[in-house]
Amino acid sequence: MKNLSFLQRYRLLYQPLLPPILQDLQKLAPLKREAISRASTDFDPALQELFPHACTLPILCFQGKNRSSSFIPVKVGVILSGGQASGGQNVISGLFDALKKIHPASRLIGFLNGPEGIIKNEYIELTEEGVAPYRNQGGFDIIGSGRTKIQTQEQFERVAQTLMTHELDGLVIVGGDDSNTNAAFLAEFCHRKGLSTRIVGVPKTIDGDLKNSFIEISFGFDTASKVYSETIGNLARDALSAKKSYFFVKMMGRSASHLTLECALQTHVNLALISEEIAAQRLSLQQVVAEIADLICERAEKNKHFGVILVPEGILEFIPECQAMIGELNHCLEGVKSGVNQLGQKETLEKLRLIKPHLSQAAYDCFCTLPEEIQQQLLFDRDPHGNVQLSKIETERLLIALVERELNHRRDTRCYTGAFNPQPLFCGYEGRSALPSNFDCQYCYALGHLAALLIQHGASGYMCCIQHLAEPVESWEVIGVPFVHMLHFEMRKNKKQAVIQKGLVDLKGGAFSAFQQQRGRWRLEDAYCSPGPLQFEGAFELTSQPPLCLELE
Ligand code: FBP
Repeated sequence: MKNLSFLQRYRLLYQPLLPPILQDLQKLAPLKREAISRASTDFDPALQELFPHACTLPILCFQGKNRSSSFIPVKVGVILSGGQASGGQNVISGLFDALKKIHPASRLIGFLNGPEGIIKNEYIELTEEGVAPYRNQGGFDIIGSGRTKIQTQEQFERVAQTLMTHELDGLVIVGGDDSNTNAAFLAEFCHRKGLSTRIVGVPKTIDGDLKNSFIEISFGFDTASKVYSETIGNLARDALSAKKSYFFVKMMGRSASHLTLECALQTHVNLALISEEIAAQRLSLQQVVAEIADLICERAEKNKHFGVILVPEGILEFIPECQAMIGELNHCLEGVKSGVNQLGQKETLEKLRLIKPHLSQAAYDCFCTLPEEIQQQLLFDRDPHGNVQLSKIETERLLIALVERELNHRRDTRCYTGAFNPQPLFCGYEGRSALPSNFDCQYCYALGHLAALLIQHGASGYMCCIQHLAEPVESWEVIGVPFVHMLHFEMRKNKKQAVIQKGLVDLKGGAFSAFQQQRGRWRLEDAYCSPGPLQFEGAFELTSQPPLCLELE
């Protein structure tokens, strides 16, 4: 613990509150939530074929009973999967504490560095001493994380072997939509094989897109949005003071614009682009650029040559012509894999020459309008799902370059005479491992307890869901929802696949409507709001406010 700051050490002592239902695990009995459980025949026949067992599972809630049960010890494994999200280590401490409450001889095995750890059976046993330094801390360093997918038959068999070697009663997979899709398949696989290990998922991702009628928000979103909002609020104040810069801030969040929307609501920036709205309006890249340039010109007329503009990192995938071009690039990079490896060393022009025959004229033209650095970034290696790595594309710089071009054009025609001093910024990795907010500490601690409870009651193929999160912890409700309720079919790598559906920004939802009502005023007035740094002590409004999106929806 010697490298911990005073605040980190102080946070070790923080005791997250638990919703009343999770306070005495021995006195709970599972109950079917008939009202929302579906008959197995309600599912898409293709899903029934893939998940014959899961389609028969009920949604579970819990009710208190007078007598305590006496439980036997359980042995559970845990994996952290994908990108970091604040609170992950509290899922583990919550799980650990709950297992010990179930029975002091229960054991927790942490598989190292994500799904790879369970495939290769690389693990540590988590003890009180091992867990203690990570309580209420950011990061996933307690056991590490990784992006390996469990997808081949061989990988499933190796995972099953690890589960049997450790004689695990349960496995908790902490991850986003893809990792929990994997968990759904693994649960069905274990059932087919007659393994007794229960597979349970915990919804994680700062992106906020693991969201549906059962999951109100994934953990990590609250902390990340607060860390980013602090930065953005500070930038806005700086812009207002110096009156000379336009900050173009790229916001992490992969495809979804939830973080952009939340931070805009928190800080009242002059413009926040929302990818989902751009897609709905089918705006071209030039129209997006024109919208930004219009804002700059209107503000210049008021002698304001500064401002803050938020750009979601996935925006290009929502602009129809760019989306088509990226799709073709993904396809052609996948198709000419061996060539791509050689391409790694070559200059953009050479890469382009090799790729050109595989692109349509429209995609090629679109590619050629982009600055060279962006072209290079679009040709970087794909992620394990075959997608472009959005966090590596400097969309904020792309927009700066295109807006500059547009403003120069307007200068030539005397429509604009202002000074444009843009500053690019990326709100990204720093939001993923920050000290978790009280909300994320409590949410995650409760999720860990719920995972233990579901395993204890034999539930496999379930996602841990906590509801009424916008209310104080005392009102939170817990349910276990079979993954299969969240699955649908999508085309991935040219194949129809069952996956957990991503929840993008709902343009009819309360959060977007609130933003829509206010953004007109924020454009020209300098109504900036500075939420300041995350607070851990003090009044509820300071320390425990859930994300605004959650309240508004
Ligand atoms: P998860 O979906 O795994 O939670 O990751 C979220 C995220 O932070 C995205 O917002 C971002 O695009 C991506 O991870 C970056 O990935 P990497 O850490 O591999 O650079």
